[in-house]
Amino acid sequence: MSLSQRYLIRCQDADTRWCPCVLADSGSCPVCPVIRGEDSCERCLWQGVCIYEKHLSAGGRMEKRLFRPLQVLRKAEIGPDVYRVVLTMPSEWRFELNRPGGFIIVKPSGADHYSAAPMAIYQSSEDETMSLVFEVKGPKTKKLAQSGAVWDVKGPFCSGLWGARRLQTPQNLRCLVVAAGTGQSLLPAVVRQLLKMDNDLHLVVEAKNNGMVYAVEDLAGLDRRDSALSMQLLMPRSDKPAGSPLADAVREHCYDVLVSLGSDYLHEQVARLRDDQPWAASNNSVMVCGEGICGSCGVVLDNGEHLRGCKVDIPPEFVFGSPGVDSEFEGGPVL
Ligand SMILES: Cc1cc2nc3c(=O)[nH]c(=O)nc-3n(C[C@H](O)[C@H](O)[C@H](O)COP(=O)(O)OP(=O)(O)OC[C@H]3O[C@@H](n4cnc5c(N)ncnc54)[C@H](O)[C@@H]3O)c2cc1C
Ligand code: FES
Repeated sequence: MSLSQRYLIRCQDADTRWCPCVLADSGSCPVCPVIRGEDSCERCLWQGVCIYEKHLSAGGRMEKRLFRPLQVLRKAEIGPDVYRVVLTMPSEWRFELNRPGGFIIVKPSGADHYSAAPMAIYQSSEDETMSLVFEVKGPKTKKLAQSGAVWDVKGPFCSGLWGARRLQTPQNLRCLVVAAGTGQSLLPAVVRQLLKMDNDLHLVVEAKNNGMVYAVEDLAGLDRRDSALSMQLLMPRSDKPAGSPLADAVREHCYDVLVSLGSDYLHEQVARLRDDQPWAASNNSVMVCGEGICGSCGVVLDNGEHLRGCKVDIPPEFVFGSPGVDSEFEGGPVL
C-alpha cells in the first residue's frame, strides 16, 4: 500500500464545489480508486463524501476556476522590491481565502498563462477586498511590479499550507509559529485559527536579507480575548544569523505544535529541531495550473511515490524528513 493510501494524504478540493474536478474526469482522482479504474472501494481515502457518486451524477459537468479580471485598487512598494497590493475580491471567495493556506494565481491583465504566479492571501476584508505581498524575484514578479490597474486572477485555492488540518483541533496547547520573508503573509490566517482554538502562541519572525517585517503590527488586533495576551512575539531580529532565533525558541520551550511559513530551507531547519509534534508548513511547490493537471508541482517522496503538491495535503515531514516519520509508518494514519 502506498504512503498516500496509508497516511490519509487528502485532496484539498474533495467535498468542495470544485469536486469532481478535471482529475476525476481524466480517471486520475487521488482519492477514489474506482474512478482510477479499480474494481472496489477498498483503497478509498474517504473524506466524508463519495466522489465516485458525485462524478457520476455530474455527468462530466464541473465547476472550473478560470482567470477573471480584478481591479488593482492599490499597489505600494513597502520595502526594497517588496510590494503590497490590494485587489477587489469576489464575495464568494471569502471563505476559502480566509483559511490558512488560501492563495490565488495572478498575472498582469492579458499576459500569457505561463506568466502567472501563485500568491498567498495576506488579508481579506468585509469590504470585499483582499491584499497580498510579493517580492520581486524574476520575470513573473517583475511583470507584476510593472503591471497596470487590472490583474487576471484565478482562485480561490486553499492548498498553500501542508498539514493545515492539524491546526483545526489543537486546544490549550503551546504553538510555535515561525515565519520568514513573504511567508509572513500566511501569518494572519494561521494566527487567527490557532487563537480561535484557545492556544498560546509564540511567534518567531525572521526578516531575511531585505529587513522586511510587515505582518507583526497587523497581528496585534487579532488577539481578541480580553484575558491574558496569548500571543507573544519572541522576535523579530534581523541581527542574528538565520536559524538561531528559531533554535533558541525551540530549546527554551516545549512546543506541542509547530508551524513554519517560509522557504524550504526554513522547513528543513524546523525538521531538524522537531521531535514528533504535529507540524504544518507553507507549500512552496512550483505551481502553474493549481488543478493537478500540469504536473509542475510534483513532489517525489522518499519511497518514490509521486504526488501533486497543489492538490494533496502532504504531511510536511514526508517531504522534508523529520523524526517521527518511521513510527508513523508503523502506526497507521496520522492527523
Ligand atoms: C502557494 C504559494 C503561495 C505563494 N505566495 C507568495 C507570496 O505571497 N508572495 C511572494 O512573493 N511569493 C509567493 N510565492 C512564490 C511566488 O509564486 C514566486 O516567487 C514567483 O512565482 C516567482 O516567479 P518569478 O518569475 O518572479 O521568479 P523566478 O526567477 O522564476 O523564480 C524565483 C523563485 O520562485 C520560485 N517559483 C518560480 N515560479 C514559480 C511558480 N510558478 N510557483 C511557485 N514558485 C515559483 C522558483 O522556484 C524560485 O525559487 C508563493 C508560491 C506558492 C506555491
Ligand atoms: S500546479 Fe499544475 S499540477 Fe499542480
